[in-house]
Amino acid sequence: MDFSIKSGHVEKQRVACLVIGVYEPRRLTDTGLLVDHFSQQYLSSILRCGDIEGKLGQTLLLHQVPNILAQRVLLIGCGRERELTLQHYRKILHKMVSVLNQAHISDVACYLPEINVKNKSLYWRISDAICTINDALYQFEALKTIKKKKAPSLKRMSFFVNSRRELDKTDSILAQSYAISAGIKLAKDLGNTPPNICTPSYLAKHAKRMEYDFNQNLRCTVLETEDMEKLNMGGVLAVAKGSNEAPKFIVLDYKGTDESVAPIALVGKGVTFDSGGISLKPAAKMDEMKYDMSGAAAVLGTMQAVAELSLPLNIMAVIPAVENLPSGHATRPGDIIVTASGQTVEVLNTDAEGRLILADALHYCQQFNPSTVIDVATLTGACIVALGRELAAVIGNHSVLVNNLLRAGEACGDRVWELPLLDEYQDLMKSPFADMANISNDNAAGAGTITGACFLSRFTEKMDWAHLDIAGVAWRSGAKKGATGRPVRLLIQYLFNIIQQPA
Ligand code: BES
Ligand code: MN
Ligand code: ZN
Repeated sequence: MDFSIKSGHVEKQRVACLVIGVYEPRRLTDTGLLVDHFSQQYLSSILRCGDIEGKLGQTLLLHQVPNILAQRVLLIGCGRERELTLQHYRKILHKMVSVLNQAHISDVACYLPEINVKNKSLYWRISDAICTINDALYQFEALKTIKKKKAPSLKRMSFFVNSRRELDKTDSILAQSYAISAGIKLAKDLGNTPPNICTPSYLAKHAKRMEYDFNQNLRCTVLETEDMEKLNMGGVLAVAKGSNEAPKFIVLDYKGTDESVAPIALVGKGVTFDSGGISLKPAAKMDEMKYDMSGAAAVLGTMQAVAELSLPLNIMAVIPAVENLPSGHATRPGDIIVTASGQTVEVLNTDAEGRLILADALHYCQQFNPSTVIDVATLTGACIVALGRELAAVIGNHSVLVNNLLRAGEACGDRVWELPLLDEYQDLMKSPFADMANISNDNAAGAGTITGACFLSRFTEKMDWAHLDIAGVAWRSGAKKGATGRPVRLLIQYLFNIIQQPA
């Protein structure tokens, strides 16, 4: 899809379709008023007939509007101007994409960024439109030999600004939104790729590929089983043991500013398939556990965007990649393992594997004295019970960091909700035989997402750390099954906010 940003006369755009917003009740936007003027009140006469009220998501496709060169005009209801939120804006854009595709329209002049979204600049509205439209057009059909769906008809879209003066930021808007879109697409592609293809080695190969693509400032190191043995990464090795797929411990080191600046560490859970291990999961929906590497995918997507945009930050990505399967070599419930930090863990449930690999990954970060550590993981089914599929959970040991993530989430719509990290919950991880167990010792206590974070907190004590549980948001089930690419947007927004902050 090809996007551009232009200024020019609306009546002279020789395209298949103009897209124009209508506020409720029956109020044209600025460009709508212009078209109304050139067409001798054609639009207002239609509004008066009541064909479109302006309610959010209503549409009306008009042909042969007098005195304009575009073939069609698509009017889209935007709801009440004063109530227009980011979520509404995206709904409007999604609606536009579906109507344009149904009508097989390929080139469009879109005037939706002129509509008023609460607290958002024109720059933001254009950039977000590009990301949202790319997101809406996404398909994963690489493995279909018979393509059922037609490729989307949309090919070219121009956004219009009023004056040349607003155009000088065009290149940076396009670069930014392309990089974010590509990062989200990468995360979706990796997530959707089946687990027989997207193995730990596949993720490692992809990371190496990124080093090649961004040779200037991205270094990739992959630790193999022997390396992990030397580092006593008992957590990663214990989970990997049951599978024939070799574990990979992937480190990407991005240097965008002075060496002396402490890095931000992003840690992504990379379980390429989570069968539960000996504590086997039920069959229903087990296929969806190919998405258990969504944390890793989001971290890789974010790193790609960071490198693409050459952000002036130092960032490390740390991805423990494993497959969790049962076999004669697999870790048993009751096994006690030694993690890289030296702390011992009694593995009471081999399905609580994410925290075992993250324990080693978080400990690994410590040697780099990061300013901040954020881990991203599909850690607990309990998170879906707590927050459903709209919000990811954030839990951390540093309130400023947690607040920054909450704020970034609100700003970009990739939202998170804080759950508490209280000492009182730590006792639930007590084991009679090891430093801790990997699951709560009280079945009735609930709070599975919090206990998961409590476990991780024992490996991050010396660092400012936040944990994102993305179990509910990383993919959709059912008819629209597929990866969402979340929380790539959140992480990028968080990093953008840091750069704009005065030092
Ligand atoms: N990957 C799962 C969490 C998960 C399950 C995410 C379903 C999304 C949908 C994780 O490894 C897991 O199995 N967690 C267990 C932890 C429990 C054994 C303490 C869970 O949530 O049941
Ligand atoms: Mn599991
Ligand atoms: Zn898992």
